Amino acid sequence: MIDREEHAAVPIPVVLDCDPGHDDAFALWLAAGNPALELLGITTVGGNGRLSQTTYNARVVATVAGIHGVPLAAGADKPLTRALTTAPHIHGSSALDGPVLPEPQVEVDPRGAVGLLRELITASAEPVTILATGPLTNIALLAGVHPEVLGNVADIVWMGGSTGRGNVTPYAEFNSWVDPEAVAVVLDSAPPLTMVGLNVTHQALATAELLDRLAEVGNATSAFGVELLRFYTASYQAAQGMAAPPLHDPVAVALVARPELVDTVHARLDVEVHGTETAGATSVVLHGRPSRPANARVAVQLDVAGFWDEVEAAIRVLR
Ligand code: BDR
Ligand code: CA
Repeated sequence: MIDREEHAAVPIPVVLDCDPGHDDAFALWLAAGNPALELLGITTVGGNGRLSQTTYNARVVATVAGIHGVPLAAGADKPLTRALTTAPHIHGSSALDGPVLPEPQVEVDPRGAVGLLRELITASAEPVTILATGPLTNIALLAGVHPEVLGNVADIVWMGGSTGRGNVTPYAEFNSWVDPEAVAVVLDSAPPLTMVGLNVTHQALATAELLDRLAEVGNATSAFGVELLRFYTASYQAAQGMAAPPLHDPVAVALVARPELVDTVHARLDVEVHGTETAGATSVVLHGRPSRPANARVAVQLDVAGFWDEVEAAIRVLR
C-alpha cells in the first residue's frame, strides 16, 4: 500500500456514482479536474431524472469538459423497492435544463454500473473511494451482490441526508428520500461511510459573484457551468425561496480531494424507512448518548472559500 504522506503526489482512486443534475455536473468536473484524484469510472442512477436522462446528461457533462477514456456505465433505473420520483422542480424536465446540450461523444459501457464498479474496485492496487452523489441504489446493489468488493473500498462519501431538516420533506433530503432502503442496506453492510448532508452543503452557495468568477475562467466548461447555474439559481429561488442555490454534490468530492476543507465527526447514523411523513430522514446523533455505536463520519463544516477555489481550479484545467 502507498504511504500517502510520503507520496503526496499520488492521486486517490475514485469512482463517481451520480444522477446529473446540475450539481452532479460540477462534482464530475471536480473529480476529473482535481489533481489529487484519479477518476476511474462514472456510473449513473435514476434520481434527479430518469436513468436514461441522467446517463445522457453524464455523457454530455463529460463531453463538454473533454473527459474521455473514463468508462461510464448506467445502473439502476428505480429505487430498490419504491417507484422513482425525480426532481424537475429543481433540475428541469431534462434533469439538466439551462444550456443547449451538445451531442455526447462518450459511449455507455456495456458492463453496467454494478459490473463496472466491481471490476474497477477489484482491479485497483489501492483501495478506491466511492463518491456517491445520488440515491444509493447502485451502491446498495453492489454491496448486496458483491459484498467482497467492499474490502477494497477506502470510503463511501455520500452527498445525502442531513443532520437537521430536509429539503424534499420536512425531515428528508432528496437522495435519501428517493431510496431510503438503499441507505439502510449500505449502512447494514457496514462499510466506511461519510455523509455529506444538507447541513454542510447549504454552506456552498453559488452566489451571483461566484457565477461572475466562473464566467471569467472563459473556457467551454465554465460557460456551460454558468448556464447551468443560472437555471439552478432560478429553480432554487422559485422552489425553496433561496437567493443563491446550494451546490451540494461537489462538496463530497472536495472532502476527498482536500480533506482539510471539511470538518467531520464520528457519529451514529440511521435512516428512517418506515415513516409515513419521515421516510428518508437521517438520524445523526451529534450530542447526547447514542444507543448504538458511531458508524459513520458526518461532515459538519465547510471552508467555503477553499471549496470554491478547488471548483474553479478544476474547471480551469478542463476544456
Ligand atoms: C441532492 O439532490 C439532488 O437534487 C442534487 O443533485 C443533490 O445530489 C440534494 O438534496
Ligand atoms: Ca445528485
